[in-house]
Amino acid sequence: MTGTIQVRLTLNGESRFADVDSRLLLVELIRDALDAKGTRVGCLTGDCGACTVLVDGEVRKSCLMLAASISGNDVRTIEGIEGIETLQEAFIAENGFQCGFCTSGMIVAAADLLKRNPLPSHEAIRRAISGNLCRCTGYESIVNAIYRAAHGNCLSGGSDDE
Ligand code: FES
Ligand code: FES
Repeated sequence: MTGTIQVRLTLNGESRFADVDSRLLLVELIRDALDAKGTRVGCLTGDCGACTVLVDGEVRKSCLMLAASISGNDVRTIEGIEGIETLQEAFIAENGFQCGFCTSGMIVAAADLLKRNPLPSHEAIRRAISGNLCRCTGYESIVNAIYRAAHGNCLSGGSDDE
């Protein structure tokens, strides 16, 4: 059964409402109805992680959620991640992107990791971004960038605790 449903959410700290088709995906709501274009659409099957956002502080693939399932939730996209400048600078310093298509999702996943584990090991970083695919970089520079954002350099050390 299909129909229109009104959804209410907090998007990047702002209260928002939208009338959505019951089949609309959360990523489509974010990008098309609410105009937060930083979130990417890749596979739409939950495999690539390009659409990664935080829902109530949890990493979620927004192509796997229906917009209609949102009910007053707190949604954070790349545009609303706090303290993102350090990660952005580290991605630039370590060449952590090429085409940049995966970068929004990578940074959202990285920001979530650094919140839970401010000084992660390379291994902990690899686990945290294991749901995010990158076709360009081979991942090493992305891991180094996240490590640099946490530790101030890309040398070994850090914690596996998450
Ligand atoms: S677009 Fe959502 S995981 Fe690929
Ligand atoms: S930089 Fe191109 S997909 Fe990651």
